[in-house]
Amino acid sequence: MIKLEDHREATIRKLQSTDLTYLIRTFSFPWSTAEATTKQWQQWLNEHQEGTRAVCVLEQQQKILGYGSLLRNPEYSAFKNNDIPEISALWIDEPFRKQGLGSRLIRHLEKVAFDEGYQKIGIGVGLYQDYGPAQKLYFKMGYRPDGNGITYKGKQVVPGTQYPIDDDLILWLVKPLKNKLSLTFKYVDPTTRSLVHQWLKQPHISPWFYGQGLENTRKGIDEFLAGSNFTQYWLGLDHEHPFAFLITSHVDKPYDELTKWCEKDGKTITLDVLIGDLDYLGKGYAIQVIHQFLLSQFPDAEAVLIDPEASNLRAIHVYQKAGFEILGEFIPSYSPHLHCMMKLDLKKLREKRC
Ligand SMILES: CC(C)(COP(=O)(O)OP(=O)(O)OC[C@H]1O[C@@H](n2cnc3c(N)ncnc32)[C@H](O)[C@@H]1OP(=O)(O)O)[C@@H](O)C(=O)NCCC(=O)NCCS
Repeated sequence: MIKLEDHREATIRKLQSTDLTYLIRTFSFPWSTAEATTKQWQQWLNEHQEGTRAVCVLEQQQKILGYGSLLRNPEYSAFKNNDIPEISALWIDEPFRKQGLGSRLIRHLEKVAFDEGYQKIGIGVGLYQDYGPAQKLYFKMGYRPDGNGITYKGKQVVPGTQYPIDDDLILWLVKPLKNKLSLTFKYVDPTTRSLVHQWLKQPHISPWFYGQGLENTRKGIDEFLAGSNFTQYWLGLDHEHPFAFLITSHVDKPYDELTKWCEKDGKTITLDVLIGDLDYLGKGYAIQVIHQFLLSQFPDAEAVLIDPEASNLRAIHVYQKAGFEILGEFIPSYSPHLHCMMKLDLKKLREKRC
């Protein structure tokens, strides 16, 4: 059995015609015949090639762990008439469930729809107990009933009429595809340590977290997990999905070498931030993350210091937009390269928000 952390390396890609034999062999279910399964995959492949359905597979080491699709022209009329594509035929193979793969597939399909310019996305869910985990997951990810009640075999149910409780009795859910995050923050813990380690290796992060600085971060996480509170390591979550990593520490004035960048009075903290999940990178979320994090977690701090490398123009641009001002440049102990020291006046930020 593959270990949990390894599945984070699974990739999502488009269906290829050469996948069909493998898929039909692997995903044959007792409630269907081999013939029906073959026919269904052939139809999905045709729809995928014609463009009415985008089929994606979740793959690791030539093994397909699950699949899902986006119907651009759904049958359900409330979706069809309102230009809402439908997530359909989502399936994660039994041994790989409860490891976040279903939500990864959903987020991927949401991104496909978002990039195609859709404003909303929809999904249908059954009403009996087998659908309980799916109902909870969709709700957690921000899906809500579309307000049209339920359908049976695609038609609105009629009050007073009897219907069997089966897979054709469906509640339809929708989610807006806008830049709205449902943010929470929590400390890195032993279960999320490897996720952060993987994020740190990514090409958009490794140019800024390397050498001694990277070593200090890795060591610091382990010390934090062992009980040290000198530096705190945080995750930013959207609808409970971790996507950002934040590091904070308290400037211990007057002993800390950072004291020279601080006002005499008031609590000053340091901050470091990265967006780990590529689905959240470059989407304009960084400022929201920084502000909500500071306002919710540091109600008693007055200033925040951040020190991007001087050549990290993207980070400097984002921090300036978030209200940080450049105080000066310096070479830190952990790197030979020039860094900028930037400061945010948290009191001013709070006043603006009131
Ligand atoms: C820095 C980081 C957190 C910002 O998050 P993000 O998701 O990229 O940021 P956003 O999408 O919210 O905003 C990006 C902004 O930078 C701009 N930008 C992108 N590349 C740029 C570049 N090379 N130079 C200048 N600005 C750039 C974008 O145009 C956008 O600006 P706009 O909103 O005015 O159009 C993220 O890029 C990251 O994790 N980087 C790697 C780790 C890192 O450098 N951390 C900082 C350590 S101090």
